Amino acid sequence: MSKESLLVQKIRHGTVIDHIPAGRALMVLRILGITGREGTRVALVMNVDSKKLGKKDIVKIEGRELTPDEVDVISAVAPTATINIVRDYEVVAKYKVKPPEVIRGRFKCRNPNCITNQHREPAKPAFVLVKKEPPTFSCWYCGRYHTLEELI
Ligand code: CTP
Ligand code: ZN
Repeated sequence: MSKESLLVQKIRHGTVIDHIPAGRALMVLRILGITGREGTRVALVMNVDSKKLGKKDIVKIEGRELTPDEVDVISAVAPTATINIVRDYEVVAKYKVKPPEVIRGRFKCRNPNCITNQHREPAKPAFVLVKKEPPTFSCWYCGRYHTLEELI
């Protein structure tokens, strides 16, 4: 039995996001909009040993299967992540994330003069991943660079 499985139980239905770079689990929760006030069970494991990564984080979410959109954004903060869909305690699907090239509609550009921030007919925001580590995004329209902390 792995050390991690001594820390947290297996889940029944839901998603396990495994192999998150150590220290990024809270960002993953923020991206998913999980505050802890939803009433569903969420387990966070941080800085456990991993053969592949040295240290890793794990997030387990009971009762929720992630959408492809959500997986895309997670892959920007956690390009090493594995998404495991669990049903009846069994892992029924497992996939590696693929870093997204463009993220649309989800975040706001910080540049007040950007056309995505205009009052009348604003353009729908879009960001291009320009650097993987640390993840850096540039606004599709004005080019302004944003770190992950600035976006989420
Ligand atoms: N898991 C869980 N609840 C379940 C089934 C699995 O919390 N009912 C978790 C495991 O603890 C593990 C992850 O989901 O963190 C992936 O499970 P599994 O595929 O069984 O583990 P490994 O083979 O070690 O995964 P990998 O090869 O991706 O490292
Ligand atoms: Zn912009």
